[in-house]
Order: sequence, then C-alpha cells, then structure tokens
Amino acid sequence: MTWLITGGAGYIGAHVARAMTAAGERVVVLDDVSSGITDRLPAEIPLVRGAILDRELLDRTLAEHAVTGVVHLAAKKQVGQSVEQPLLYYRENLHGLTVLLEAVVAAGVQRFLFSSSAAVYGIPDMELIPESAPCEPINPYGETKLAGEWLVRATGRAHSLSTACLRYFNVAGADRPELADTGVFNIIPMFFDRITRGEAPRIFGADYATPDGTCIRDYIHVSDLADAHLAVARRLAEQDAGDLTVNIGRGVGVSVRELADLVADVTGYTDEPVVEPRRPGDAAKAVASVDLISKELGWTASRGVREMVDSAWEGWCLRHPDARIK
Ligand SMILES: NC(=O)c1ccc[n+]([C@@H]2O[C@H](COP(=O)([O-])OP(=O)(O)OC[C@H]3O[C@@H](n4cnc5c(N)ncnc54)[C@H](O)[C@@H]3O)[C@@H](O)[C@H]2O)c1
Repeated sequence: MTWLITGGAGYIGAHVARAMTAAGERVVVLDDVSSGITDRLPAEIPLVRGAILDRELLDRTLAEHAVTGVVHLAAKKQVGQSVEQPLLYYRENLHGLTVLLEAVVAAGVQRFLFSSSAAVYGIPDMELIPESAPCEPINPYGETKLAGEWLVRATGRAHSLSTACLRYFNVAGADRPELADTGVFNIIPMFFDRITRGEAPRIFGADYATPDGTCIRDYIHVSDLADAHLAVARRLAEQDAGDLTVNIGRGVGVSVRELADLVADVTGYTDEPVVEPRRPGDAAKAVASVDLISKELGWTASRGVREMVDSAWEGWCLRHPDARIK
C-alpha cells in the first residue's frame, strides 16, 4: 500500500509519517505548510506542497504515487479562532474533507483514516467517555470534526471505503525535540511560555468538583498516537469495508494542578501557579474510555505524562535556548 498523509508536515502528521515509514509502509505527504514545518520530514518521504482544496493537485498526487490509502490530518485546530472565523473552519476542515473524499472516491482509493477529536463530545459529564457518549460539540472546531466523521462514515458506506475516525484526547510530547509542537495552544506549551517569560503558570478554575479542584484531562504521548495510527492503518488494509470510530487516550485522568507540579519538577521553575477564574466551555473532567481500541486492535498507550512533559520541554528549549535554568 501507499499512504497519502495530509498535514504530514504538522506536529502529529510528522510523527505519523515517520512511524509509518519506520514500520515499512510507503508514505507520501501533502501539506500546504500553513502551520507545518518541512524540516520535520526526512528527505526520503516525498512532500507535495499544496492544499486539500486543490482537486487537480489531489488527483495528480493520488495517481502519480499510486495511493491506496489516506490518513487525513490536515486541518485548522484552534478552538478560539474557530469561534471568530467559523467560515474558515468549515471551508478548510469540512469543505476540504469533501474535496479530498471526492478525489479519493474518483481514484478508487479504499482506505481512509480521519483525525477527529475529543472536541466532538462537548462538555461530557461522565467518569470515562465511551465512543457511544452523546456528541454535542460546543464550538465550530468540534462541529467540523463531528460533521467530518458523519461525512467519512457516509462516504465509506456509499462507496465501499474502509474508514476510521480517531478521536484524539490531549496530545503532548515529542519523539525528538525538532518534532515538538511549536504552537502555544495546549496547556503544556502554555505553562512553558509563561515560565519562560518569568510569569507564574496560570490555572483556570480551582473550584471544580474534582479532588484538587482543577480540571482533569487525559493526555496521550504523540508517539503513542502515531503508533495507534499505524495499528489502525494496518487494520484498514486487512479489511474491505466497514468503519471504526475510536477514542485515543490513556484512560487516565491528570489534573491541571498535577501537571503544573510535574512541569515545575521537569523545568526547575517552581513559582506557585496563579489561579484565574474558570474559562467558559471547560469540562471539569474529560477522560477517554479506551476499552474499544484495546478490544478491537489490542492497542494501548505505553508512555506516561512525565515522558510527555520531559520531551515537550526538550522541544521547547530547542527553540527557546534561554528557557533552560543553568
Ligand atoms: N494537537 C492536538 O492536541 C489535537 C487534538 C485532537 C485532534 N487534532 C487533530 O489532529 C490533526 C493534526 O493536528 P496537529 O496538532 O498536528 O496540527 P498542525 O497545525 O501542527 O498540523 C496540521 C498540518 O496540516 C497542514 N494543513 C492545514 N490546512 C491544510 C490544507 N488546507 N491543505 C493542506 N495542508 C493543510 C498544516 O500546514 C500542518 O502541517 C488536525 O486535524 C487536528 O484537528 C489535534
């Protein structure tokens, strides 16, 4: 098989492209480099520069590389920006997906793996969130992911495409420093950003109904996530049709306070975090049930939160050499 990885120059995509290549899969990346970094990819992985909205380019790429499966990660992913610019998010994430699926069906590609998100669940109120939980996204980003899942599954049923929707929880860490997430949108880089600027990390809300009062999340190491893509891609390659929608997390909750303590331990910055008011839209707890992926694929995450913080910090220090306490 040859896999087209859209968004393969991105934070997660580069990990996926490298993991699949290392496991012997043939891979080609398509990325418009709007937020990607081409240096994340080794020279042996071909990179096609362009957008998923460019149908002609898609047709050419699928044909020239004899693509038989697609791993679709290219998307806009900033929740706040999606509230301000819903049209951009629906165009890039949903219209882009439509154009890509049209090209996939026309080219006779039969495997399609879609990057979804825990954002499809909205603000769930349960201990562990199973895939059968109600999907009630609370922002346009989550809506595009949920509608994207509907579109992927419907296209799969109509065109005998074997599909998978992977609902990632909170992705963190890096396989090596140069692959780290460069954005400051997730909590770990946000903590690093504050301490590097000499400011105390911020905790939004310490009065939730959780043991230490702060929100609880499920963090997954990006290398584990990449391994999960490989496992799912191989499963899709074995079967002729059908769909799989699975959570990808560890099934373990970590509170914001625990994470702040870990960041202090790893970085040496021990300033007490400041507690700010709650942010609207933050669930008290969002932890995946990971029974389904374990039952279906025998896959479970193996890396812990310390490895995530350690490796994310190495990546941060590569780009902010002054951050490291001598
Ligand atoms: N990072 C997370 O915590 C997280 C959590 C859940 C889901 N996801 C999903 O995972 C996927 C990858 O996220 P990431 O964190 O690696 O983000 P990223 O921004 O690092 O990667 C996205 C990549 O897609 C490319 N891209 C964007 N729009 C494109 C387009 N129209 N055509 C071609 N390329 C385009 C960008 O240049 C970039 O390389 C996204 O679909 C995101 O919604 C991420």
